[in-house]
Amino acid sequence: MVGCYNRRATMKRILTGDRPTGPLHLGHYVGSVANRVQLQREYDTFIIIADIQALTTNFDRPERLRQDVLNVALDNLACGLDPARATLFVQSLVPAIAELTVIYSNFVTVQQLAHNPTIKTEAAQYNFGESMSYGFLGYPVSQTADITFCRAHLVPVGEDQLPHIEQARKIVRKFNATYSSVLVEPEARVSTVPRLVGLDGSTKMSKSLGNAIYLSDSADEIKRKVSSALTDPARIHPTDKGHPEVCVVYAYHRVFNADAVSDIAERCRAGTIGCVACKQLLIAALDRFLSPIRERRAELASRPDTVWDILETGTRRARAEGEQTMALVRQAMKLEYPSAARPGGPTR
Ligand code: TRP
Repeated sequence: MVGCYNRRATMKRILTGDRPTGPLHLGHYVGSVANRVQLQREYDTFIIIADIQALTTNFDRPERLRQDVLNVALDNLACGLDPARATLFVQSLVPAIAELTVIYSNFVTVQQLAHNPTIKTEAAQYNFGESMSYGFLGYPVSQTADITFCRAHLVPVGEDQLPHIEQARKIVRKFNATYSSVLVEPEARVSTVPRLVGLDGSTKMSKSLGNAIYLSDSADEIKRKVSSALTDPARIHPTDKGHPEVCVVYAYHRVFNADAVSDIAERCRAGTIGCVACKQLLIAALDRFLSPIRERRAELASRPDTVWDILETGTRRARAEGEQTMALVRQAMKLEYPSAARPGGPTR
């Protein structure tokens, strides 16, 4: 452990994470979780469970939050996130994130937020119309605080998050130019695997679109979901010549069945494998991939106290980092007053 902390001191830092709005699915895995599990070996890794961000769309349903936080922690741990290397923590328990969010709000215009393409896409998805909340519009500002409170260098994310990282960089530059250079300007590290399409062929796998395979799905659920997945619509008979590039099942074979995929594509084009058989191969491949994750997840889920302990340890470290950053920020902004407001002063 001691050696591990020493190593951490010389490593560059990454921060990434998830909104706890339900269990994670294969799209999350491909887009970010796989990437962060690799990176935790080389970087001091912070993983945020962004419960406050989840509330921007679910503020009226807080009762699910606790289970969803646990689910996201379980998914990350089951995929190989190692609490000895990575700091897994809960956003709402780190006061510096809330403090920085308020401070950063001066460094971003309403225009910038309203033009953020990811905000626009999500607003349309949630049907906000004229009723978008200030909290939702401003979540990229709070996400900037998520990233900068621990002075992270790198942010591994899926490409939909790029506008938010760009926004974070702008806020940091403006802050540093206005006061002094105490904040670290983060860089995005985009997953190299292209975005996973939904089972229904829509461009993105997503919970709200109901087209997702969850990391926690049972073998039966996977079978049912893959059986209903969209294939080449021009193929009626198993002997028809297929077009893998338009087929959802093929897109999944490429990611989860890399060894067999070129053979499968060839047989599809030649009309020597039907969609049913092709789906069976995918079901088997997904099962090979998911069963160790599923087992590890079930094992951890049977002792939730261990998971809450991991979160508590991670959150404690995150809070300590946040206090250090806040001390630098207060100094830079001259938000320093005799005794009472000092970190470690009478109020803490
Ligand atoms: N917005 C991210 C998502 O929807 C989740 C998130 C919250 C995040 N805070 C973050 C990602 C900080 C990277 C860094 O997936």
